[in-house]
Amino acid sequence: MRPIAVYPGTFDPVTNGHLDLVERGRRHFDRLILAILRNEDKQPVFSVPERIALIEDAVSGWPNVGVDTFDGLLVDYAKRIGASVILRGMRALSDFEYELQMAMMNRRLAPDVETVFLVPSETYSYVSSRLVREVARLGGNVEGLVPAAVAAALARRMHPPGSPSR
Ligand code: PNS
Repeated sequence: MRPIAVYPGTFDPVTNGHLDLVERGRRHFDRLILAILRNEDKQPVFSVPERIALIEDAVSGWPNVGVDTFDGLLVDYAKRIGASVILRGMRALSDFEYELQMAMMNRRLAPDVETVFLVPSETYSYVSSRLVREVARLGGNVEGLVPAAVAAALARRMHPPGSPSR
């Protein structure tokens, strides 16, 4: 029997790099759940329901992929849904320290939950939600870095009709 995996993150917004990882990861797991952290401290561009809708739209073609939200400890959430794997992406060396710390802490908290890293396509190795938000905010083109629906939602959010020109 293949394990259930949780792919946690902020996903503000989901990028093609995230989706590349989902496409790779979903083949190895019975179910893969993208779990959005409900973090009231941050000021996200998209609300949690908006992020859920954008992800649901992007993953609708993959039957064993789902979307959910969580707060509190990730490992508690993973146990609650029966996930024995935490999936994370490793784009570059710069990700390593942060990811290693989280993986070690999660292992300490829940030794039975294993963190698995996958490497996204090199096409997306430089893509992050933070950079996508910044480029979109400054009027740059993010097509090809995010799903079309996300690019449209970013344009509407950052530059609503009637707003001053950039
Ligand atoms: O995409 P992100 O923002 O790098 O994701 C970070 C996330 C959501 C994976 C991380 O902040 C998290 O797991 N938060 C839940 C709180 C938790 O379990 N902390 C202790 C282990 S690091």
